[in-house]
Amino acid sequence: MRMGDALLMTKMTRPALEDLTEQARKAAQHSYAPYSKFRVGAALQLTNGKIVTGTNVENVSFGLTICAERAALVRAVSQFGPDIRIAAVAIANLNGLASPPCGACRQVLAEFILPDAPVVFPLADGIRTMAFSEVLPLGFEMKLT
Ligand code: THU
Repeated sequence: MRMGDALLMTKMTRPALEDLTEQARKAAQHSYAPYSKFRVGAALQLTNGKIVTGTNVENVSFGLTICAERAALVRAVSQFGPDIRIAAVAIANLNGLASPPCGACRQVLAEFILPDAPVVFPLADGIRTMAFSEVLPLGFEMKLT
């Protein structure tokens, strides 16, 4: 298992991130992915100490599919309200394939995540940990004057 420099930027320990990854893997077991067969799980460590998980839920109208990361995020806001902050994210899949978060999920996570939060995800050469600011360096912002 490979954990990168993002560990240095967080109070989360390596065992805590490994546990978060395990929770993401467990969540992937609930995946509804009859079309792609690609079962994904995400686990969010919130700054309030809670962990919230999500999985991908596909639809026969493919574009309506909900990714695991967004499922988890919507669940977290629904359970704990709009002031939540995400301290770390882990993503896993049951296919043993690389699965960094998709672009849409990065933008959605940006709304609630701390910039130096570690994002743990599988790549071809093992588990990678990157700070969120590296995963999405130039997310969309709307600055009104
Ligand atoms: N998927 C996720 O759950 N998260 C991502 O970041 C990208 C893709 C899901 C959507 C779909 O059910 C399956 O993976 C294949 O694209």
